[in-house]
Amino acid sequence: MNAARDTFAKPRIFPLVAPSPLLGNSEAMHEVFRLIERVGPTEASVLLTGESGSGKELAAQSIHDRSARRGGPFIAVNCGAIPAGLIEAELFGYEKGSFTGAVRAHAGVFERAQGGTLLLDEVTEMPLDMQTRLLRVLETRKFYRVGASTEFHSDVRVIASSNRCPLQAVQNGQLREDLLYRLAVFPIDLPPLRSRGNDVELLAEHFLAELNADSPVEKRLSALARMTLKQHTWPGNVRELKNCIERAFILGDQVLELAPLIQSSSAKGANVDGGRERLDIRVGSRIYDMERSLIEATLDYFKGNKRRAADALGCSLKTLYNKLNGYSQSQECASS
Ligand SMILES: Nc1ncnc2c1ncn2[C@@H]1O[C@H](COP(=O)(O)OP(=O)(O)OP(=O)(O)O)[C@@H](O)[C@H]1O
Ligand SMILES: [Mg+2]
Repeated sequence: MNAARDTFAKPRIFPLVAPSPLLGNSEAMHEVFRLIERVGPTEASVLLTGESGSGKELAAQSIHDRSARRGGPFIAVNCGAIPAGLIEAELFGYEKGSFTGAVRAHAGVFERAQGGTLLLDEVTEMPLDMQTRLLRVLETRKFYRVGASTEFHSDVRVIASSNRCPLQAVQNGQLREDLLYRLAVFPIDLPPLRSRGNDVELLAEHFLAELNADSPVEKRLSALARMTLKQHTWPGNVRELKNCIERAFILGDQVLELAPLIQSSSAKGANVDGGRERLDIRVGSRIYDMERSLIEATLDYFKGNKRRAADALGCSLKTLYNKLNGYSQSQECASS
C-alpha cells in the first residue's frame, strides 16, 4: 500500500476537515482521494466530472482545503443557472452605469474569489462566446469589469465541473475544445454512488448520525431499510441518499424505513407515478427536440416534481428550471 493510500486507510473521512467531509471507503473513492491529495496543493486547474449529486462541489471544496489558498475564499458559481445576458457581469462584475439597471458597481465572482478558488459549476452550460472570454482570462490572468477601462489581475485557481461527458459536449458543439484542454489539466471523475459498494451504508450512517446529534430521540434504520440501501440504484447519488435519510428521519419515530420513500422516486421498476416509462424517438430527431421530449416526459413521470425529475435526469434543479424557462420562452415567441 503506498503512502497516499495509507492516509485514507479504513475507515477514513476525507478531508480531515469539518464541516463537510467527503466520505468514502470504496476503492473508487480511494482513487478520488489520492487524486485530490496530489492535485490539492498545486495550482493546476481541475475538471470534476460525475453524475448529479455525486459530490463534485464537495470535492472542489476539498481541493481548496488542501491548497495554500485555503485561507482565501471558495466561491462556486453555477454557469447553467445564470441567464446568458448576465453571465459576463456575474463572472467579471460591472461598473456603475455600464448598462440599464447597473445602479452601483458590482464585483464578479472572479474578483470575489481573489486569493482563493473559483468553482465554475456546469461549465458546459456556459454560452460559447463567454467560453472564449473565459479562456482568455485563464490564459492572460487579466479581465475587465463590464464597462471598465482598468484591468484586474486575476489571482484565482479555477476548478470546473460538469455532469456531462466533456468530450461529448465538445462533439455536440457545447464546449470549446481549447477551453476543455485548458480546464482539464487534471481531470477527476466522481464515481456514481451505485458503484461505491458499502459506501452507501457508510454515508447513510453518517447522515443519520448528524441528524441524531440534534434530536432528543435516537433513531436507527430497520433491517429492511439496510437492504433497501443496497438494492436501490441511487440515480440522484449522494444527494438523493442524504435527502432520503432526512425524509425518513422526519417521518419515522425510532426505526426508520426507506422503501416507501424511494420506491416512488426510482426511475426503474414499476411505473408507480403514472407517467410514461419509455419514449419512442425517431432516428434523425433534432437533439433539442429529443432533450425537450425527455425532460417533459420525465417531469410527467414524476408528476411535475422537479427535484425528482432533475435527480433522475442527472442535472441540477437550476439547469432544469433554465431548460423549462427556455421552452416556455420559445413557445411564447412561436405564438406571438
Ligand atoms: N462523499 C460524500 N460524503 C459526504 N457527503 C457527500 C459526499 N458526496 C456528496 N455529499 C453530499 O451530497 C450533496 C450533493 O453533493 P454535491 O453538491 O457536491 O454534488 P454535485 O456533484 O456538485 O451535484 P450537482 O451535479 O447536482 O451540482 C451535498 O449535500 C454533499 O454535502
Ligand atoms: Mg454541484
